Amino acid sequence: MGVYDITERDQTKGHYGYAMPILCNPTKITHHLGITYPIIQAGMVWVSGAKLAAASSEAGCLGVLGAGSLTGELLSQHIHKVQKLTKKPFAVNFPIMYHGTEQQVNLALQMGVKIFIMSAGSPKVYTKRIQQTGAQVWHVTSSPLLAKKCEDAGVDGVIVEGFEAGGHNGRDELTTLVLVPQVKKAVNLPVVAAGGIASGEQMLAAMALGADGVQIGSRFATTVESSAHEKFKQAIVAAAPSDTHLMMKKIAPVRLLKNHFYQQVLSLEQSNGSTEELLALLGKGRAKAGMHEGDLTEGELEIGQVSGMISDIPTVAELVTQIISQYEQVRTHLTTLKLD
Ligand SMILES: Cc1cc2nc3c(=O)[nH]c(=O)nc-3n(C[C@H](O)[C@H](O)[C@H](O)COP(=O)(O)O)c2cc1C
Repeated sequence: MGVYDITERDQTKGHYGYAMPILCNPTKITHHLGITYPIIQAGMVWVSGAKLAAASSEAGCLGVLGAGSLTGELLSQHIHKVQKLTKKPFAVNFPIMYHGTEQQVNLALQMGVKIFIMSAGSPKVYTKRIQQTGAQVWHVTSSPLLAKKCEDAGVDGVIVEGFEAGGHNGRDELTTLVLVPQVKKAVNLPVVAAGGIASGEQMLAAMALGADGVQIGSRFATTVESSAHEKFKQAIVAAAPSDTHLMMKKIAPVRLLKNHFYQQVLSLEQSNGSTEELLALLGKGRAKAGMHEGDLTEGELEIGQVSGMISDIPTVAELVTQIISQYEQVRTHLTTLKLD
């Protein structure tokens, strides 16, 4: 039994057919995005290039290019490559705070990109302009308040990211478990849960909270097709559950895998270093050096708490099959659990 069955069941019956109060409706986003499974492969700097995005779309998810590290010509090359590798829907993620976003968004529009996932900035900036071309805009949020602002700005859906997540995180440090039900209550939009999801069980848990789908980052970073350096992938596999930590809150909070660079940031933060000192330590090119070039000592290694449970490097197709099969197994098992 696969998620196909859920989709069929939904379309014919309009509900799951169970007495359990499951609040989600996967067809809402599978329909909206034109994908098979309610899974978005997260946009990730230095990690989600054309190979990963195309493989994810081909596997039935929404593949996403991380434009944050695809500067200038690189973005058009990667969009072109995805368009050649798959006819299925894909998206591009733009962290708004990054330099050059305006030009990159224009380029993506010219190249016919139909789904934009915006993050790290105000939903007011691009939403309307992008939607006028017929494209969809999804916005990443880490609080119910910002989710409401996203709704007011007219976005098509929100991606709600708890601070377990890899990459840059919200300042409020809300977890996915706490965030999803509150955002679901705050807005009348499709809600995608992100942060701390690497398996079918975790996906099902997010859906039980009311999410319409999930966005998965760290787990996709550790696949064959990801453009993370092989050494970075091996470091994720070797990571223990407490090997990540949220750092650099004075600049922009980011969850890092503990290494020598992390220790330097920690010392500076413990000695109450200034923002300027932190920026100087960060310097330029740390994230590329760590995640893409495999400098495990001096590089910045962005990864989520789930790294502690990742123990292999499958292909995207293998991973998606595994997640969907776990989802179905646990969902079936849960229907046998009664509290009386
Ligand atoms: C290596 C890495 C890079 C990331 N880069 C970005 C990015 O460029 N833009 C963005 O919106 N989110 C970024 N994120 C966050 C992801 O899009 C996603 O929301 C997050 O990974 C979900 O949590 P998880 O890692 O627990 O699955 C990144 C995450 C990782 C692990």
